[in-house]
Amino acid sequence: MATDSEADDSGEEGRRRFLSRTAAVLVTFIGGALAVPTIGHIVSPTLKPADNPLVPLGSVDQFEIGKPLKVDFLYYKNDGWVQERNSASAWVVRKSQSEFVVFDPACTHLGCPYGWSAEQNQFVCPCHGGVFSIDGTVLAGPPPRPLDRFQNSVQDGKLFIRQVVQRG
Ligand code: FES
Repeated sequence: MATDSEADDSGEEGRRRFLSRTAAVLVTFIGGALAVPTIGHIVSPTLKPADNPLVPLGSVDQFEIGKPLKVDFLYYKNDGWVQERNSASAWVVRKSQSEFVVFDPACTHLGCPYGWSAEQNQFVCPCHGGVFSIDGTVLAGPPPRPLDRFQNSVQDGKLFIRQVVQRG
């Protein structure tokens, strides 16, 4: 038979156990509530696809119709936590007041940088004699396909491209 003192102890102990369990549940709940958004914030950049923003190539006024111009540019690439600064170039051909074609500067044979020959009115690759017309079509040599292109658009008098190369 329990004495009054033992009954008090067991009531006190039960209260302590209840408070302890309640505190543990609350701590677990609060910890979980804080952990989920924190982990989401930390992990989410690595789950997103890399940014592919528009890259400005400058004013459209610098490009003459029918006269290819090579343009060097910088672009930033976000990939997860890392932001890379890259330099690249492109060949721009203005076809009309509002229509542009922007070529990747790597030859479609083995990737050599090609150039524009104003004399021949053709793009010429020095590595293996690849020749392309002003619209990127293969005219001679070993390149297996036309020049690759960047998507482009004109906004507020400036030419922009996306760093997505479309196979020729
Ligand atoms: S890399 Fe241009 S022709 Fe071979």
